[in-house]
Amino acid sequence: MTNSLASVFVDRIRAVVGHQSEPIGLHVPEIGELEKKYINECLDSTFVSSVGSFIPKLEERMQEITGARHAVAVSNGTVGLQVAMFLAGGQPGDEVIIPTLSFIATANAVSHAGAHVFFVDSEESTLGMSPVALRAALESFVRKGSALVNPATGRRIAAIVPMHTLGHPVDIAAIVAIANEFDVPVVEDAAESLGSFVGEQHTGTFGLTSMISFNGNKIVTTGGGGVILTNDEVLGKRAKHLTTTAKLVHKWEFEHDEIAWNYRMPNLNAALGMAQLDKYPRFLEQKRRLAGKYAEAFAGLEGLSFVVEPAGTTSNYWLCSVRLDEPSLALRDELMTAAHEAGLLVRPMWNLLHQQRMYSGASRGDVSVATDLHASLICLPSTPALAEAV
Ligand SMILES: Cc1ncc(COP(=O)(O)O)c(C=O)c1O
Repeated sequence: MTNSLASVFVDRIRAVVGHQSEPIGLHVPEIGELEKKYINECLDSTFVSSVGSFIPKLEERMQEITGARHAVAVSNGTVGLQVAMFLAGGQPGDEVIIPTLSFIATANAVSHAGAHVFFVDSEESTLGMSPVALRAALESFVRKGSALVNPATGRRIAAIVPMHTLGHPVDIAAIVAIANEFDVPVVEDAAESLGSFVGEQHTGTFGLTSMISFNGNKIVTTGGGGVILTNDEVLGKRAKHLTTTAKLVHKWEFEHDEIAWNYRMPNLNAALGMAQLDKYPRFLEQKRRLAGKYAEAFAGLEGLSFVVEPAGTTSNYWLCSVRLDEPSLALRDELMTAAHEAGLLVRPMWNLLHQQRMYSGASRGDVSVATDLHASLICLPSTPALAEAV
């Protein structure tokens, strides 16, 4: 029975992505002549580092795409999230609420900011932070003056960091409403959700600050890189200042007014990113078309189903995925093994953060939905060009 589900799983993926002699990767960047042209332009200019014309162009383009008033390009999403949390007021010793079902960087960014994580559960319909679990956590905390404090640790709750899982928008409106009630800022981990909207509003523009990643496996890549987004003018200026060593503008003097970071995205990476952003509307269209093909291929199958965007949202389908009807790590791994043997490099979800050794002692609420999701989701090959494979 399970053997046959594994072979049907492989057949249905094949029906969408076709047959190739090489293994089919999870998400492969498309690098062509335009990328080479812009990178060569950048090399010819000699401005390959933290100054150059591609960086502000990339920031402007990201403002246009997302509608955010400020976009600040940084060297990767992890440091972008760290700074986004710092800008929202996170201080060493604070506690930050994050979903346990996330990539390690969400937790690491908190740790790099000197803060501690508090893990909450996910919800089935979005795969992201559960507003119910969030409220339960916040209600277990106590108010001390203007601060909300976790009585178990004595730490101040500095921020709530929901994440848009696999590109599917989390219930950000509910999360922001609850956060406002408890007066805690929201910092969105929008690493995976470039091109994902709630209604007409782009993800990453609901929180006080946010971050989008341009890692090599994302819908648009700069090699390594990311942007911090905010609508707050003061924070936008501060994001740029803090990520460029807090240097005061002067023709030659090296005067810096605080201890800051060298986190600026290099112009060379921004050149690559601009070529990718020129292609981004096509990438997005292809990814949604690919998702439609998978949805059709997996329709009516008993045992698993294709994961669709939450109601009222438009997902970029960064990673298309299927979900087992019944969570089972054994069955999940059986399907994954069959796919890998067929040259289809599917992937599981990340191991839950509260089970990673560095975070096993961290505070948390109930995480049973995340545990089930971890044991039932499989990510499918999602390279945009696969939309044209068959
Ligand atoms: C959810 C999430 N958060 C943070 C990051 C970190 O981004 P980066 O790899 O650009 O540092 C990633 C992806 O890489 C991610 O998927």
